[in-house]
Amino acid sequence: MNRRALLTAAAGFCAAPALAQQSSLPPLKSAAPWPLGTCARVLQFDDPQWVALATTHFSRLTPEWEMKMEYVLLPDGSLRLDRADQIVNFARAHGMAVHGHTLVWYAEDGVYFRKLTGDAFRKAYAAYIHGVVGRYRGTIKTWDVVNEPILDDGSALRDCLWTQQLGEDHVALALTAAHEADPDALLLINDYNLEYTPKKRATLLKLAERVLKAGAPLHGIGTQTHVAGDVPPGAIRSALRDIASLGLKIHVSEVDISRHEQRPVNAVEPRLDQLRVIDELVAAYHEVPAAQRLGTTFWGVRDPDSWLNNGHEKRLIPDEPLLFDRLGRPKPLARELVKALKA
Ligand code: XIL
Repeated sequence: MNRRALLTAAAGFCAAPALAQQSSLPPLKSAAPWPLGTCARVLQFDDPQWVALATTHFSRLTPEWEMKMEYVLLPDGSLRLDRADQIVNFARAHGMAVHGHTLVWYAEDGVYFRKLTGDAFRKAYAAYIHGVVGRYRGTIKTWDVVNEPILDDGSALRDCLWTQQLGEDHVALALTAAHEADPDALLLINDYNLEYTPKKRATLLKLAERVLKAGAPLHGIGTQTHVAGDVPPGAIRSALRDIASLGLKIHVSEVDISRHEQRPVNAVEPRLDQLRVIDELVAAYHEVPAAQRLGTTFWGVRDPDSWLNNGHEKRLIPDEPLLFDRLGRPKPLARELVKALKA
């Protein structure tokens, strides 16, 4: 056997376990009785492994960053939706849905709005939402209209440009503008730590009730579920039960299960905590009435794709919060997810 043939055989032998692992995992989206999503960036469309994994295992994409105001809104008030279009076109080409994320976020308000006040601000606020939602009318069926409106301690709405200029009404205004732009879209408020911080959850649900009472078109709540293995047993179930009590749709919208927990329940093998968490998450979501289940979205495909391993969230020791490892192989967490989905 010549050297090239020998090397080719060896390479095939090395790749075999990973390929075998790949083939042993059924498409996750076919195991789930609800839509299964992941977040996406345009750059990832040039990564064949990401494309294969994302299109095989997920049925919905959430733009991770490129549909947000920080990228979309230019200083002169014009909208840059080239990459949002690319994500929508990629999803359409692969038979996937897109979850719109996000229109109004305390973390990004743009130079353009800071030059405005009063009626001009209010008109520009509605115009921005009309412009983005209107472009995808009939294509994007679900939106995170307002993202993370509640303070971490749950004491009140965040103090941000939107509340400074429009008060709490900015929430109802945003929902109304989105509904005007696409009356058929389902409109959500999305927040995090609703499992870790019951007070924050209660304050968010009170906001939702006030908005509904005011007649605003709110259809669902997104609970991001950025958790770690130390999330107290039962906390996710309690959160989903509370949220479901409003009768609205529930999107478990940004799941990752960090290994960087402060107090691992299973200090010996923290990875077992991750399995416990995914079991509880899926079992609790199964208990939500089917009509209210908008689906579950993982905040990334492979561990290196995770925001926890990039940007300001990056830590010294790489985190392992997602379903596939750095080589694109399904982890025990992915197999546990299949087991839990089919339970
Ligand atoms: C994060 C992205 O993952 C990062 O890549 C980006 O730099 C900042 O935003 N809650 C949200 C998401 O609603 O939009 C955030 O996504 C993570 C926290």
